Amino acid sequence: MPGVPERWPGSFVVTLDGAMIGQILLRRATGHRRPAAEGKADLGYLFLPRAWGFGYAAEACAAALDWFDGLLPGEPVVLTTQTANVGSMRLAAKLGFTEVERFRAWDAEQWLGLRPAVTPSA
Ligand SMILES: CC(C)(COP(=O)(O)OP(=O)(O)OC[C@H]1O[C@@H](n2cnc3c(N)ncnc32)[C@H](O)[C@@H]1OP(=O)(O)O)[C@@H](O)C(=O)NCCC(=O)NCCS
Repeated sequence: MPGVPERWPGSFVVTLDGAMIGQILLRRATGHRRPAAEGKADLGYLFLPRAWGFGYAAEACAAALDWFDGLLPGEPVVLTTQTANVGSMRLAAKLGFTEVERFRAWDAEQWLGLRPAVTPSA
């Protein structure tokens, strides 16, 4: 293990008072099973249960999306989650994702959302 972790653009560790509470990943959706998502930037998030329900995910994902908009202005972002995942569905809506389609995979109904390209202000 290197003493200092490698920097990996698009991969964020979310900390609270110096301790990790979650992870956010923005990566290129290559080989995505839905054509509408193929090749687009793809948002994923995972927080520790003890950190749920305080708005941390919304705050951290918004910051990651701001970072993304600054880096690649005018690019849309996609997100896939189970429709049964109420918290994740709510978070996606709060972040500005709207439904593209629902599909069946991994033994559950999945939701593909899209956050339209943010046009850089003149
Ligand atoms: C999904 C997840 C990131 C949400 O984290 P969180 O810190 O609780 O989210 P926030 O506190 O920022 O809440 C975002 C919104 O979702 C709502 N919400 C969160 N959990 C909820 C739940 N279980 N039921 C209903 N609403 C919920 C919040 O109320 C908030 O909406 P509001 O501002 O309108 O009230 C977290 O539950 C998680 O990491 N789950 C496991 C991993 C996962 O499911 N990832 C997605 C799969 S791709």
